[in-house]
Amino acid sequence: MTPRVALGMPRVPTSQDRPERDPADHESNSPGPSPHGLEEGLIDRFGRRASDLRLSLIDKCNLRCSYCMPAEGLPWLKREQLLTGDEVRRLVRIGVQQLGIRELRLTGGEPLVRQDLEEIIAGIRADHPELPIALTTNAIGLDRRAAGLRNAGLSRVNISLDSVHRETFAQLTRRDSLDKVLTGVSAAASAGLTPLKINAVLVRGANDHQAADLLSWSLAHGFELRFIEQMPLEADRTWKREATVTAAETRSLLSHQYRIEPAEEDRGGAPAERFTVWEKDAGAFSSPLGTVGIIASVTEPFCAACTRTRITAEGRVMSCLFSQEEVDLMDLLRGGATDTELARRWAEAMWAKPAAHGTDRPGFELPGFTRPERSMSAIGG
Ligand code: GTP
Ligand code: 5AD
Ligand code: SF4
Repeated sequence: MTPRVALGMPRVPTSQDRPERDPADHESNSPGPSPHGLEEGLIDRFGRRASDLRLSLIDKCNLRCSYCMPAEGLPWLKREQLLTGDEVRRLVRIGVQQLGIRELRLTGGEPLVRQDLEEIIAGIRADHPELPIALTTNAIGLDRRAAGLRNAGLSRVNISLDSVHRETFAQLTRRDSLDKVLTGVSAAASAGLTPLKINAVLVRGANDHQAADLLSWSLAHGFELRFIEQMPLEADRTWKREATVTAAETRSLLSHQYRIEPAEEDRGGAPAERFTVWEKDAGAFSSPLGTVGIIASVTEPFCAACTRTRITAEGRVMSCLFSQEEVDLMDLLRGGATDTELARRWAEAMWAKPAAHGTDRPGFELPGFTRPERSMSAIGG
């Protein structure tokens, strides 16, 4: 079943599909209890099934990117509020064994801030020899830890890097740490944490003029760069749609230097649309230089095909990046609940997953949209 009519908006299944719900009947669009047992996994009422778990290990970060965190940081969770390594391992086990989770991404804040990261990964790897385990990181400190993380069982990394120019990097992140990041990136590549992807947010007037530069650097190193449209997830709540450098603008910025064409592939549930990149004046039969991705959450939303489920660092399920509702698993984890009780609560939370952008349709500028309480750093990307 492919439950979508457009990338942005999932179709409510009709009587031909399961579960039976009438899109015209407003009442029946409210979540209600799930009619399913656990054998359906993390299915929602639009028929989407989450198989990609993004689990945040810590809310703390050592950078202060303007589109994510305020300069002074945020009130961090206390250590005892964070999921322990054993709790993380148990949740992953329940996800994989009972709920159809097929890939895992560990996020933060900055997950390298956790000293037990290697131990956590080794535990998960011991339980699931085949599970793809990825890490989203800013790469600070990765130079010392990349090889150990690889040995522990980490599959690959996505590294957040918005500029390869020292002053611009410092301006965007409020920290003069580009050198540390670049040594971390090299170490990750040498350790085989590949395919290595670079995530960049373009900020108008700060790094948008460097978009092609960043692509040249990524292509030269064999990294897969993705540009992410800025979403309303910054802690100081200043987002305006006009400030977002759109996917269309990004394509135009790149086309001054390169020829890019949509890659012909089934994108599945992936946020990034991929483009093949050639030299601008390359002949018809020349080889491409690589690919670039664009994650257009604002202007070309992809919620209809969403396969993601999130757990925050303090053990709450967020069915959508923009969920208003968070469903606590920590009380069950620490209150002696069984795996099946935990799985049921997780599945119920996902059944209520909103259609798009935390509400009933995609559009951050539309009246129904309300931002989540949390900023990106406290959700995990
Ligand atoms: P890969 O499997 O490595 O390709 O990961 P990915 O494409 O899922 O990318 P990653 O986890 O690095 O996410 C990159 C960015 O995409 C995130 O930082 C978010 O900005 C955005 N993103 C990821 N998932 C979602 C989502 O479910 N909704 C929206 N709106 N944006 C998302
Ligand atoms: N909009 C889009 N992406 C964001 N990120 C952080 N804040 C935002 C935002 N407001 C990205 C970072 C990092 C990932 C974890 O999330 O650039 O790559
Ligand atoms: Fe999925 Fe929500 Fe992201 Fe849309 S905004 S892709 S529904 S997590």
